[in-house]
Amino acid sequence: MTRTMMSTFKAADMTGDRLEGGGKPVACGNKSTGCNDPRSDQFCAMSARECGLIDRSKQMLCEPPQGPVVMLIVLQPIQVGRERMMMECGNMSDHLPSRDGLDVIKTGKGVGAEVREIELRTLDDEQFADLRQAWLDNLVLLVRDQSLADADLIAFSRRFGDLDLAPIQESGRRFVEGLPELYIVSNVLEGGVPIGSLGNGEAVWHTDMSYVEVPPQASALYALEVPPTGGNTSFIDMYDVYDTLPDALKVRIAGRRVKHDGTYNSGGFLRQGVTPSDDPRESPGSLHPLVYTHPETGRPALYLGRRRNAYIDGLDLADSEALLDELWSHVDGDRFGWSHEWRKGDLVLWDNRCTMHRRDAFDPAARRVLHRTQIKGTGRPA
Ligand SMILES: [Fe+2]
Repeated sequence: MTRTMMSTFKAADMTGDRLEGGGKPVACGNKSTGCNDPRSDQFCAMSARECGLIDRSKQMLCEPPQGPVVMLIVLQPIQVGRERMMMECGNMSDHLPSRDGLDVIKTGKGVGAEVREIELRTLDDEQFADLRQAWLDNLVLLVRDQSLADADLIAFSRRFGDLDLAPIQESGRRFVEGLPELYIVSNVLEGGVPIGSLGNGEAVWHTDMSYVEVPPQASALYALEVPPTGGNTSFIDMYDVYDTLPDALKVRIAGRRVKHDGTYNSGGFLRQGVTPSDDPRESPGSLHPLVYTHPETGRPALYLGRRRNAYIDGLDLADSEALLDELWSHVDGDRFGWSHEWRKGDLVLWDNRCTMHRRDAFDPAARRVLHRTQIKGTGRPA
């Protein structure tokens, strides 16, 4: 019997209809199973994994189908753990794998991926390394159906590095008592006092805490209560935004720095202890390069922070405003972004160095409670 492995295992598209249905067998187009789906062999092989040709719950990832099958090996760079898979599958008769790599499924939008079938509380070191790489590759990760106490969320976040203390809330409180790393995003009032920040309104495009000199490298947001509709969080890939800027515009912003304002938060609320100012030259904040070279991937990203009170250092205010407006006109969430509709138990982790995010408004009568941690940055953006 001739067995040559076919395994593209390209990360699937979460928008693909064949991924609906909770893993029920569907026509996958795999010729070895007689499927008649006309799509390409590459897609076919990917979907074979989804349709049960390889049953992740009961079989080894590289278990071959029965009968003489000719398979090709096509590596794709987005399958986390692929090297281990290939190593393990290289001698199928003698070295069956102990487990597969992470199940990483791209959103099919401009950014982000879902990682399925993992439990964040119990990741081993190898799984965590794969998850971290998937995060760097996809910028934003969604992990559903988690059950995390605050201590679990903090412990998981600490695996990425030291944590920032949560910013002081609009009410002047820092939440939660005894857990200063934890920030609560919520519209809920208890005794007339908000338990968290940002209310129920829109939160505009921003990067978390970029008004400090060393902004956090990542944020993790975990959903405890979500409204039935609204309150989606959208993310945008700022690598792609930079990459697609006109060359002349890239030249104009090369070497320039922009002030990331610290007067208002993304919900438009005045930060505690700050004297309000709408003169961006005078407002508090930090200057960062407009083009931020990611310290781990080496890729350049447009680093805008937020629009309100932004100021490009060294320019007349009018010229700064005009250039910022021009840059912000390229922040196209439909083209480069993905909007996440929350469910209870969702954990979303994003790279704060190369993405921005925003939130839709939602019904003020509905409850929305999310807990957030932030992993400290490793140095000033450069
Ligand atoms: Fe944020």
